[in-house]
Amino acid sequence: MQLRVWPRTSRRMNSEVPPTYRAGSDQRTLRRALGCFATGVTVVTARTPKGEPVGLTANSFTSVSLDPPLLLVCPALAAATTQVLLEAEHFAVNVLTDEQADLSHLFATKGSDRFAETECETWHHDVPIIRDALANFECKRHSVSDGGDHAILVGQIEHVRFAEKGDPLLYFRSKYHRLHSS
Ligand SMILES: Cc1cc2nc3c(=O)[nH]c(=O)nc-3n(C[C@H](O)[C@H](O)[C@H](O)COP(=O)(O)O)c2cc1C
Repeated sequence: MQLRVWPRTSRRMNSEVPPTYRAGSDQRTLRRALGCFATGVTVVTARTPKGEPVGLTANSFTSVSLDPPLLLVCPALAAATTQVLLEAEHFAVNVLTDEQADLSHLFATKGSDRFAETECETWHHDVPIIRDALANFECKRHSVSDGGDHAILVGQIEHVRFAEKGDPLLYFRSKYHRLHSS
């Protein structure tokens, strides 16, 4: 790849060649590149038609629109929970605090009993709402679209609760971090 550097300088600031990725080359490098974007961490929850709670850890959360109020999350097609999330009429996005890294790990671990000890409540649509989260968004499914090996699930936000204090759990370069704001 031809890297153009501006402004031109003859002085080499850093002798190490940064890793690069081209479409079709190895996915690990692409993951590392995408991991440069720091995110918060959420747990997305819903219920099966039989009423079983399901949820998975997701950092692909984005606010989309204020009017109408929309958000999105991208569940992997390969994840066991995804089909339930895409078919449920309602789901919730629970934004984790920096005290909830254990919950992030639990909801990202295959075969774990995710709700045995997770404190939840329900609001208007029987969706599991995780207690003590930084924010909870109860949503109605708005649309599902193609996102390659993920789906793009857009939800219309119906109810929200958020803490006015407290710090988020952060995810950056495949590791958890805390905000160094105070
Ligand atoms: C910090 C973090 C963020 C993640 N973000 C996503 C995501 O946005 N979408 C997704 O499908 N999986 C994501 N995962 C992976 C799932 O949580 C993981 O594959 C989970 O085990 C899926 O569970 P299931 O196969 O039982 O549904 C993330 C994992 C971690 C630790």
